[in-house]
Amino acid sequence: MIHRTLFPRSSWPRSCLSSSSFSKLGGGCHGDASRAVSSMPEPCRSSPFSDDESRDIDWDSLGFGLLPTDYMYVMKCSEDENFERGQLSRYGNIELSPAAGVLNYGQGLFEGLKAYRKEDGGLLLFRPHDNALRMRTGAERMCMPSPSVEQFVDAVKQTAIANRRWVPPSGKGSLYLRPLLVGTGPVLGLAPAPEYTFLVYASPVRNYFKEDSGALNLYVETKFDRASRGGTGGVKTISNYAPALKAITRAKSRGFSDVLYLDSVNKRTLEEVSSCNIFLVKGNVISTPATSGTILPGVTRKSVIDIARNRGYEVEERAIDMDELSDAREVFCTGTAVGVAPVGSITCLDKRIEYQTGAGTTCQELYSTLVGIQTGTTEDKIGWTVEIS
Ligand SMILES: Cc1ncc(COP(=O)(O)O)c(C=O)c1O
Repeated sequence: MIHRTLFPRSSWPRSCLSSSSFSKLGGGCHGDASRAVSSMPEPCRSSPFSDDESRDIDWDSLGFGLLPTDYMYVMKCSEDENFERGQLSRYGNIELSPAAGVLNYGQGLFEGLKAYRKEDGGLLLFRPHDNALRMRTGAERMCMPSPSVEQFVDAVKQTAIANRRWVPPSGKGSLYLRPLLVGTGPVLGLAPAPEYTFLVYASPVRNYFKEDSGALNLYVETKFDRASRGGTGGVKTISNYAPALKAITRAKSRGFSDVLYLDSVNKRTLEEVSSCNIFLVKGNVISTPATSGTILPGVTRKSVIDIARNRGYEVEERAIDMDELSDAREVFCTGTAVGVAPVGSITCLDKRIEYQTGAGTTCQELYSTLVGIQTGTTEDKIGWTVEIS
């Protein structure tokens, strides 16, 4: 049970963040005020909380549910401008025009990355520049302006530091950071919105899947598609996710953990799972679907590919026919939320294939190496982690 009554919101003080980046960015909404229809939350001036004030939180009860934290970061811009000034404010609801582009036409993107606590108490972000670049690629596809890589990383750092008491102790989980880029300006005819909001909020999390240490049981989806050629499957737009709910809900009601999607044309080649990429292991060869526009190029996916190659595996990025599921020794999924998660079985219609999981598997070897780098227990020779405090 998480104790949320420690600090009633009405008692939160307001004094200034001492970080230089905050004073550089501190300010209000930029642009024509008459078009700024979504109101800016009240800026916060400092985090009054220390790490000690997290000692009553029951970290062992964390799952992947939203646990609101103290602060969020907000930055706005108009259609023909660049994002320029952002600020931290207390976490809370935002006000939107009923005609906001994101509400009416789904013009929005999100990202997901984590802050990890090291054994010495310091905080690490894992490859935040890659998430920033992916957001920029997605913004281009969705006709939105986007923050620069530096602005994105600075916003994520500020959000993590301001909420640092919510970063679980080493080994108990991580602080999930959720950057959003949405069209908040009003638009009636189908067109890009006249105003955009970039927002970062945070929640402490542990396991994405309920299975905890157990393996995932996937269901091959043969009716619904996740993405199509020429569509938006390769970017992290919010509009890719609600259509997947039908398949996920149906699979979960039948006792499966999640859905494995096939290509929408021939329904033969493997694509990805609802929120993670998939890998097959056979002998010393690891295969994963190539990122050719319909699957999300996961940051964990490319990290695991590099780790596996460094450890002597041959890694192939290519089209994988569903028949190859029968030949694999192991299958695993990768993603920020799921980490490197073993797959115990895959069911397609009436056929169920089982895979090796547990001690001594490739999945476990790659998982340990990745988590070691992310949490600072294994030396980061490549420079993937960013120390933020
Ligand atoms: C559809 C989809 N595929 C794959 C991933 C994994 O991406 P990453 O490793 O960057 O978290 C995600 C998670 O964001 C996702 O939503």
